[in-house]
Amino acid sequence: MNLPPFKLERYFAKYEFNTEYLLSSSDCESMSTAELLALEPGAAEKLQQVWLGYTESQGSPALRAEICKLYEKIEPDDVLVHTGAGEAIFLFMFAAFKEYDHVIVHSPGYQSLAEVARAAGCDISPWRAREENGWALDLDELRHLMRTNTKAIIINTPHNPTGYLMSREDYEAIHKFAKEKKLLLFSDEVYRESEYDPATRLPAACDYGEYAVSLGVTSKTYGLAGLRIGWVATKNRRIYEKMALLKDYTTICNSAPSEFLAEVAMRNRQKLAERNINIIKQNLEVVDELFARYPSLFTWVRPQAGSMAFPRYLGGNVEKFCDDLVNKAGIMLLPGTVYDDSQNHFRLGLGRKNLPQAVERLKGFLNKVR
Ligand SMILES: Cc1ncc(COP(=O)(O)O)c(C=O)c1O
Repeated sequence: MNLPPFKLERYFAKYEFNTEYLLSSSDCESMSTAELLALEPGAAEKLQQVWLGYTESQGSPALRAEICKLYEKIEPDDVLVHTGAGEAIFLFMFAAFKEYDHVIVHSPGYQSLAEVARAAGCDISPWRAREENGWALDLDELRHLMRTNTKAIIINTPHNPTGYLMSREDYEAIHKFAKEKKLLLFSDEVYRESEYDPATRLPAACDYGEYAVSLGVTSKTYGLAGLRIGWVATKNRRIYEKMALLKDYTTICNSAPSEFLAEVAMRNRQKLAERNINIIKQNLEVVDELFARYPSLFTWVRPQAGSMAFPRYLGGNVEKFCDDLVNKAGIMLLPGTVYDDSQNHFRLGLGRKNLPQAVERLKGFLNKVR
C-alpha cells in the first residue's frame, strides 16, 4: 500500500492547536462531555456504569438503533460503526475494490475519498465540481468518465470544501445511472442534516438500494468530533461483511464511553444540529458582509448546507496569503492547494462561535496589507 501524506491533515497538524482563530474548520462548534450529558436526565449516572471491556464489533445495538433513525429502510444490522468516518472510508475502499478497478470521485474533495481507493489499486477519475456552475457536478461529464472497468462513483453532498448541496434532480439521476450501470455508489453524507433549509435535504443513499453505501459521523453536523464515532449504513451484505472482516485488523471495536455518548448525541441530534445551524447562519451574515466589502479580493459562492465554503482569493498567491495570515494575524485558513486546487481557492469554516471575532481580525489584516 502506498499512501502519500494527507495534505489537509498535515496542514491542520501544523496550526490547529497553536493558532488563536481557526477559520477553516469543517466541524461545528463542540461542547463538553457535561454539556452533552445534560441533554438527557440520568445520562451522567449511566456513563459511570459503562463497562470498559471490549465492545461489539458492529457497534452497540443501542447506538445502531439510534443511527437507524437517520434512515428509512436501514435496520441495526445494516449499520457498521467505526472509529470516525475516516476508518469507514479506509475499510470501504479496501473491501470494495481490487487492482485496476476504475472509480469516479467527486472533486475537489476530502483526500481519502480518492487516495485510499488509489492505494487499493484503483485508477481514479476526478469528477470536477466547478465554481462557475455554483460547484455543481455535470452529469454529461459523468457519462464521459465511464469506462468498462468502472466499479463505483463516490460523491459527497453536502460537500467539503464548497458547501454545495446537490439538487434532488441530479441526485436521482446519479442513482439511476449507478443502478443502470451496476456501479457501487459511495455517498459521503457526513454533513447531512446541516441543510440551512430542511426542505432541501436529500434522502440518504443507502435507502435507494443495495448498490449504495451511506457514510455518517458525529463529528460535523453534531459537533462531536472527539467522540470518533462514524458509521456506514448499507443493505449491501457483501460490502458490509467484507468491511466487518477488515475491521478486525484495524480497531476491532469502538470505544465504549464514546459509543454511549454517541448514543445520547444521536437521540438528541436534532437539538445538536439546530444549535450548530444557528451558529452557521449567524456566521454567514458576518461573512456575507465581509465579501461584500472586499469584492475585488474574493469570489463568493454562498453555501446551501454544511459548515464550509470555498471562496477564491484574487489578491495574489493563496498559499502566501494563508501563510501570512496564520503567522502574522493568528488566523488559520486552509489553502485550496491541499485539495490539489490550482485556482487560488481557500476553505472557510463557518461552524465556530468565534467567527465574528476572527473576521474582525481578518479585516484589520486586510486593511493593513492593502
Ligand atoms: C467529507 C468528509 N468525509 C469524512 C471525513 C472524516 O471525518 P472524521 O474526521 O470525523 O473521521 C471528513 C472530515 O473532515 C470529511 O470532511
